[in-house]
Amino acid sequence: MPAILASAPGKAILFGEHAVVYGRPAIAVPVTQVQVKTSITADPLGPTGRVHIQAPGIQLESDLAKLPVDDPIALAVQGVMRVLAVDHLPALNLRINSTIPVAAGLGSGAAVSVAILRALSAFLGHPLPDEIVSALAFEVEKKHHGTPSGIDNTVVTYARPIFFTRGQPFEILPPAETITLIIADSGIKSPTRLAVAAVRETWQADPHRLDALFDAIAQVTQQARRLITEGPVLALGPLMIENHHFLQQVGVSSAELDFLVDAALQAGAAGAKLSGGGWGGNMIALATAENAEKISTALASAGAKRVIISRVNPFTRDQK
Ligand code: PMV
Repeated sequence: MPAILASAPGKAILFGEHAVVYGRPAIAVPVTQVQVKTSITADPLGPTGRVHIQAPGIQLESDLAKLPVDDPIALAVQGVMRVLAVDHLPALNLRINSTIPVAAGLGSGAAVSVAILRALSAFLGHPLPDEIVSALAFEVEKKHHGTPSGIDNTVVTYARPIFFTRGQPFEILPPAETITLIIADSGIKSPTRLAVAAVRETWQADPHRLDALFDAIAQVTQQARRLITEGPVLALGPLMIENHHFLQQVGVSSAELDFLVDAALQAGAAGAKLSGGGWGGNMIALATAENAEKISTALASAGAKRVIISRVNPFTRDQK
């Protein structure tokens, strides 16, 4: 039996992070330049149920049975077994390769789950539909991030720009024109759940102020939704700057992120903001085909540890 392969892209949040946890809308896009790839091969000589995992990127080589019960890889495997009502797996090797940086706001956790769910269900002869893949990846996220909104598993599963409001059907947003983004890593690891927990404390201490900020972010996100589908996409720039200012007031930016945002704007970006949980991780800048390289170089000189130029291309709704 040949190896069964699956993959899932990274993601970036364009608008609405944190506010989305409180019921406001957010917009996220896939980042296909980075990916998780999984491959499953049968192990004809291994004992039934032996799942051997190799994930060189995180220096992991172990049998599934030896992983902690709440390990995200174990949870994804169990999720597939549960929905397919499979009690015992045949002996198999699961290999996970990822180019998505961990804890950097690029959706690495969700992408690992999605790629495992797809490969394992296909290996078992019942590839799961996207709705189930996304729902199972959400279950894994919940065990690890406390109160995730569900935006990460959704954008990573569907690999399309999405307009997302918690608990509501999401909408795929076909861009009117190519959106050129520069994604720059501050190099500071910042687990999202810590920033989300800190925002909750701030919100509990001063709900009126935080709710007003989330409402303001929601308005920006609504304006952005129209600009993405109708253009001109460069007009998203000032909205990104506004969103960044609101996130500063929410308390999730940092000196490093602010510095990179300023560097991008000085190099000619139409807009820039932190992306994801904040405090560290990534910022994004809006570029054109012409100035993308220049902004990317400026961000690297300003101290970014890794810079990705990502393009979100137009497609028609039929190409979903
Ligand atoms: O850090 P990331 O990119 O996984 O983004 C988290 C986005 C938040 O809105 C802060 C949390 C969430 O679950 O939506």
